[in-house]
Amino acid sequence: MSDFEPIILKNIPDLHNIEVYVKNGGYSTFKKTLNMTPEAIIEEVKKSGLRGRGGACFPTGMKWSFMPQKSDKPKYLCCNGDESEPASFKDREIFEKNPHQFIEGTLIACKAMGIKTAYVYIRGEYYPWIVMLQKAIDDAYGKGFIGKNIMGSDFSTDIFIHRGAGAYICGEETALLNSIEGKRGMPRFKPPFPANFGLWGCPTTINNIETLANIPPIIEKGGEWFSKIGEPKHAGSLLYGLSGHINKPGIYELPSGTLLTDLIYKYGGGVKDNKKIKMIIPGGSSMPPLTADEIEGLRMDNEHLKTVNSYIGTGGIVVMNEDTDIVKVIKRITKFYYHESCGQCTPCREGCGWMLKILDRIDKGMGRNEDIELLRDVANNIEGNTICAFGDAAAWPVKWAIKKFMPDFEKKVKESVELPIANKVHSLRLTVQE
Ligand SMILES: Cc1cc2nc3c(=O)[nH]c(=O)nc-3n(C[C@H](O)[C@H](O)[C@H](O)COP(=O)(O)O)c2cc1C
Ligand code: SF4
Repeated sequence: MSDFEPIILKNIPDLHNIEVYVKNGGYSTFKKTLNMTPEAIIEEVKKSGLRGRGGACFPTGMKWSFMPQKSDKPKYLCCNGDESEPASFKDREIFEKNPHQFIEGTLIACKAMGIKTAYVYIRGEYYPWIVMLQKAIDDAYGKGFIGKNIMGSDFSTDIFIHRGAGAYICGEETALLNSIEGKRGMPRFKPPFPANFGLWGCPTTINNIETLANIPPIIEKGGEWFSKIGEPKHAGSLLYGLSGHINKPGIYELPSGTLLTDLIYKYGGGVKDNKKIKMIIPGGSSMPPLTADEIEGLRMDNEHLKTVNSYIGTGGIVVMNEDTDIVKVIKRITKFYYHESCGQCTPCREGCGWMLKILDRIDKGMGRNEDIELLRDVANNIEGNTICAFGDAAAWPVKWAIKKFMPDFEKKVKESVELPIANKVHSLRLTVQE
């Protein structure tokens, strides 16, 4: 369907099998890096323009260069496979279809930053993928690609899987570090940043699974080759996740900057029952939603999404049709964030609860005239006032849905205000019983 040759989800049968991966050139790039200087590897990654695929789009080469080459303490790499953001399901596709390319990328990252221990953090619910990845790691140990004096060199690295207990906040990098240390998964104040004070107070780099899976082809074919794929400011391919009212949901690997309409109609087979689109979440549930008018000609990468006040996030696209009840959807999303707040910051802990209560009463026909403004005020007071970006993640869907879908909120409030008292009492009873 596309001329583009996938970089990660390659069309090679049984690529998860180590024999097949090696037969197709697997681990030879890592072997090549054993004779490269750390500076040369990092330079190539910088040249590629690769940005982190965990949501924040931070340049990977620059992140790696923050890691001190000389350190009295051990250094760590944490591979972030927590993937708890609703609508994100791309990392597990890598564990399933091409785990060795991720492992090879992890080994190259360890070589570049002089790291001897890497942890792969995966949410515990991903049990089948944990089993698949463990098998791939065991097979790589068996072939001597991981462990002591790898391929006869003086370089040694171990890779361990750490299972999370399924808390969304553990995907936040410093909460992830606390979780590996056996503490409650709560974000830490920054600075100090993990590059200097990370896991057990030692220098640590945290990278997403997709980010690391991009590394072997970058080193094999050169940073310049990669930098020419997709959009210059967000180079490479992206694993776009399509879900919602779509005919062919799934993961599609395509260049960054692919048209959103192509993703929906050409690859995703269009909207179910040929209905019109009402709302689209472009990159996971925390990203500001888009209206149907905003998607025409819109390219899917961070730079282009900024022009419609949104972001690429994790690339998880949710398509919602014309029948969608916007208030209900935003209430459902807010319920998730209310449940997942770690509770450290008052604006996040209390604010998520307030937003949920207001959305709930608007949804149940108990809304008041002042509720929309109150909701916006609470969201604005959460955004930018918390220890970690979770606060923004919770506030953005609410704030931007009000801005972009105001008539939907106004209609529900108007209907609430005009509802006879008797119905309101009935409605209230329902609320209490639920
Ligand atoms: C609330 C919250 C949840 C996050 N969850 C994830 C996650 O599941 N996976 C991930 O890779 N990054 C997640 N991140 C981003 C990480 O903190 C971090 O930026 C990322 O793992 C860095 O990798 P990258 O540079 O390769 O993108 C989350 C951030 C926040 C604020
Ligand atoms: S913003 Fe929310 S999740 Fe993040 S530290 Fe504060 S309370 Fe915890």
